[in-house]
Amino acid sequence: MPKIVQTEDGSDTLFDPTYGEHYHSIHGSIQESNHVFIHSGLKRCQAKKITIFEVGFGTGLNAYLTVLEAIKTNLNIDYFTIEKHPLIQEDWENLNYPKISADTNTELFQQLHLAEWGIEAKINANLTLHKINADLTEFKYNNIPPIDLIYFDAFSPSSQPELWLTEIFHQLFSQCNPGGRIVTYCAKGSVRRALIDAGFVVERLPGPPGKREMLRGTRPL
Ligand SMILES: C[S@@+](CC[C@H](N)C(=O)[O-])C[C@H]1O[C@@H](n2cnc3c(N)ncnc32)[C@H](O)[C@@H]1O
Repeated sequence: MPKIVQTEDGSDTLFDPTYGEHYHSIHGSIQESNHVFIHSGLKRCQAKKITIFEVGFGTGLNAYLTVLEAIKTNLNIDYFTIEKHPLIQEDWENLNYPKISADTNTELFQQLHLAEWGIEAKINANLTLHKINADLTEFKYNNIPPIDLIYFDAFSPSSQPELWLTEIFHQLFSQCNPGGRIVTYCAKGSVRRALIDAGFVVERLPGPPGKREMLRGTRPL
């Protein structure tokens, strides 16, 4: 059973004993998600209507920060997220994200978690959520529309090498619109090369506190 741990910015994360990994950086969960996924991903999208595909719904932190940003900047987001091991309520209900994020909204955080798996859920005017309970390595993208932005937030390549491969990235690349992007906290050389081999043009960007770099890939126009 995952255990709540407080990170350096005061926001919680979970430690998963099976994978032996934290769900986020211990230097700051909210700080990391904001830096990697919101600032380096979402805020770089020009369009007001976009499709996001997330690998690993987990604690729902990325989805929560995304919907807050969508409300603030009036975006219309179709948010697809795949998760192999959904958390039970006992694991997510005490996470402190809605209490300490800039825009407190406990009800919204709960709504994201209480939305049913496998069914489209209209969270509000800014976000429609599609939670998919599946394994990424076996996933067929049949009902997924062209993607504008991928949040690649799996556990690290050392504990999940099967997810950080060219073939996985190539499937995601094929689903992207031209100009579509993938962002990840990981800056490992083998991951960068796998993204390039899959077709993405890859940039190394400054990482969040505690990490020198992160990666962003773009499908060329
Ligand atoms: C680093 S955690 C991050 C999760 C989430 N984005 C968050 O902010 O809490 C990685 C997540 O990927 C999920 N995961 C692991 N293997 C997976 C797989 N093969 N397919 C889909 N999800 C997977 C884990 O269960 C976990 O929730």
